[in-house]
Amino acid sequence: MAVKTFGVIGAGQMGNGIAQVAASTGGLNVIMNDIADQFVDKGYDTISKNLDRLVAKEKLTADQKKEIMGRIKKSTKLEDMKDADFVVEAAIEREDLKLGIFRKLDEVCKPGVILATNTSSIPITRIAGATKRPALVIGMHFMNPVPVMRLVEIIRGLATSQETYNTTEALSKQFGKVPVECNDFPGFIANRILMPMINEAVYTLMEGVGTPKAIDDIMVLGMNHPMGPLALADLIGLDTCWAIMDVLYKGFGDSKYRPCPLLKKYVDAGYMGRKTGKGFYDYSK
Ligand code: CAA
Repeated sequence: MAVKTFGVIGAGQMGNGIAQVAASTGGLNVIMNDIADQFVDKGYDTISKNLDRLVAKEKLTADQKKEIMGRIKKSTKLEDMKDADFVVEAAIEREDLKLGIFRKLDEVCKPGVILATNTSSIPITRIAGATKRPALVIGMHFMNPVPVMRLVEIIRGLATSQETYNTTEALSKQFGKVPVECNDFPGFIANRILMPMINEAVYTLMEGVGTPKAIDDIMVLGMNHPMGPLALADLIGLDTCWAIMDVLYKGFGDSKYRPCPLLKKYVDAGYMGRKTGKGFYDYSK
């Protein structure tokens, strides 16, 4: 099926980033959905501000910005996805919620429409099992910040068809990204490697080995990482980091993936990182 209208479920930091690249580089009509107007409006404003920055840098004209924004339709009802030719889900990282969304999408979307998920770690095969179209379910995992990062990790579930893979790969390229393929295993590849490093950085902090700044400085200056692991955790969201570690821990049953108790404590306190103004660093000012 030719993809002209692209549906995005979730207008948060991943969802609005995906909507932005689909409408700009991808040139597609986008339906951006979230559960309430306030979330969709916030996502839409973020895209508008991101494009303003590109206009200010003369990478985009004001008319091009207007055209791109005009291609994005706001939605608060999953039923609106009946008009989509391809849907990617980027809701929060909770399995019960994602399974519910996929059940509903399976009912409302046209036959043949691919249902992709941007999950960072929940098994694609399990999500596919919530639908009657498992051959059309696939992982399409973007990295944060979506407009900047080049990778899309594409994950095949057990029943994902080759045609579904080919379409998802072609779309990723249309969005200006580099698709890399992997199989369905806890954390896939990106988070199986990245998240234990972040978790270890939190253990290092908990055990008093160094301050957040020292831990991050060591990884930036010594390892040439663009940002330290604790600053990166704040960017990703500590709730997401904890959820991914929990999936790795339960999925492998191996104590090496034990989520750091300090990470859980921060999440319990509501310190989720940049999005709440506080994580390992303070963003309130
Ligand atoms: N949205 C859009 N554009 C952004 C942006 C955002 N949120 N943040 C930065 N940019 C743009 C800037 O406008 C700038 O563009 P130009 O080059 O055109 O001027 C460019 O990115 C570089 O930004 P800065 O100069 O402000 O800052 P920087 O050079 O320090 O880069 C960074 C910022 C890109 C975030 C960089 O620090 C970085 O690459 N960090 C690591 C990010 C990373 O590891 N992401 C993966 C996380 S894991 C994940 O997402 C998967 C998961 O499942 C958890």
